[in-house]
Amino acid sequence: MNYNKKETYELLLKQIVALIEGEENNETGVLANVSSALHHAFDSFFWTGFYLLHSGKTLQLGPFQGTVACFNIPIGKGVCGTAIAERRTLVVPDVEEFPGHIACSSESRSEIVIPLLTTTGEPVGVLDIDSKEVNAFDETDAHYLEKIARLLTDKLYSA
Ligand code: SME
Repeated sequence: MNYNKKETYELLLKQIVALIEGEENNETGVLANVSSALHHAFDSFFWTGFYLLHSGKTLQLGPFQGTVACFNIPIGKGVCGTAIAERRTLVVPDVEEFPGHIACSSESRSEIVIPLLTTTGEPVGVLDIDSKEVNAFDETDAHYLEKIARLLTDKLYSA
């Protein structure tokens, strides 16, 4: 059966809730499985993964699916570092138009980055998804990926 984007995300949300149930003490496992579930749900996703905040100033590479990536991204740099500095989702339709974009792969053409924020608004990392296609991400992606980010932070980073 062919599902549209919204239907695929609705299914994914249910799948992710079930997948991470009872695994709140396994940050690496949860993030690894969620990156896999997301990555394999959409053919257009070329790189899907997490960067986690260390020492309050650097994003370090976390669990991901896709080709090898940069290990460290300073806060305020690139799409990931800007999204976490500004604590908001960034949709970049064409990475060549984003000043300071960090090209981990020359094949990446568009990108969406969602900050992972605790319930008190503290940043803990980002979810970053890249596509080989220009303009691959829209409001629907932002809406559902923010829901998934909220699920993860509630599960993993809330007291
Ligand atoms: N392009 C990102 C860096 C991470 S890679 O895309 C996996 C950025 O500019 O922050």
